Amino acid sequence: MARDKSPKRELLIELLIDKIPKELHIHFPHRWWFIGDVLITTIPEKLKQYRSAVGEAFLQLEPKRARTILGKTGPTRGITREPSFDYLAGDKNTETIHKELGCYFKLDAAKLTFSPGNHFERERMLDAVKSDEFIIDMFSCVGNLSLPIAVNKAPKQIIAAEINPYAFKYLEENIKLNKVTDVMKAIEGDNRVILREFEGKADRVISGYLHSDEDQIRQAVRLCNEGSMLHYHVAITARKEIQTETIMNIKKIIQAEGRVCTKMIRKRVKKYSPGVEHIVLDIVIN
Ligand SMILES: C[S@@+](CC[C@H](N)C(=O)[O-])C[C@H]1O[C@@H](n2cnc3c(N)ncnc32)[C@H](O)[C@@H]1O
Repeated sequence: MARDKSPKRELLIELLIDKIPKELHIHFPHRWWFIGDVLITTIPEKLKQYRSAVGEAFLQLEPKRARTILGKTGPTRGITREPSFDYLAGDKNTETIHKELGCYFKLDAAKLTFSPGNHFERERMLDAVKSDEFIIDMFSCVGNLSLPIAVNKAPKQIIAAEINPYAFKYLEENIKLNKVTDVMKAIEGDNRVILREFEGKADRVISGYLHSDEDQIRQAVRLCNEGSMLHYHVAITARKEIQTETIMNIKKIIQAEGRVCTKMIRKRVKKYSPGVEHIVLDIVIN
């Protein structure tokens, strides 16, 4: 991810300085990142009427890497987490193949979530997983968290659930593209319903959605076998009492399911929004 005082930003300013009125220069983009050959930047409201100029400047800045330029205009929406991106410049086809951790993630970068800020979490999962595990990814998207495991580790089986038909199409395609059909299987639908047949079977459950409801947490716990690891992702304010309340709540749900939490470790994944963090709780369930 490129940032404030990098030489690239200096170059970006040079490319834009004559194209945008002086009083708007303080709004020049500060951040941009790549999903495959799609470059995404933040585009403040004040620069919206200059979106083509901003897009063209990025195409010049990254001629080898960027085919399409998108601008983030707002938060990710709804249960399918559709991003709010505006087309700025370049090729209008926003389907791309992002390469990371030895995997090919094919996706429509304008319509589906793939967070660069989750890179270290994707990598961390590779260290955590042991051979021969039965793993369930409850919120798979295009395989964001579980595909690297299938490609780089030796799981017994990965079951990947996804409710959004558009994400599911890419998930299935990515399983084939990465030649892991022998260990990874995609299932389409609501994880509260479609995963019931796997209750008590998982060695590891990945719950990678920041706004799970109580039924989804219950389902995650039910999937766990004795001593299984649940990776529960949540967006939470930095305030200690709220964090304590969230943890107590999860412990209560685990107890209500007749299970025990024998270990819980909290890890920070990234900043989610002002005052809110994306954290993951690694919970051992017995
Ligand atoms: C924010 S994405 C997270 C992707 C990935 N776990 C990650 O961390 O990068 C959440 C995904 O869960 C899917 N989802 C939401 N509710 C679901 C449900 N009830 N059952 C299955 N998938 C669901 C969404 O469609 C979306 O693709």
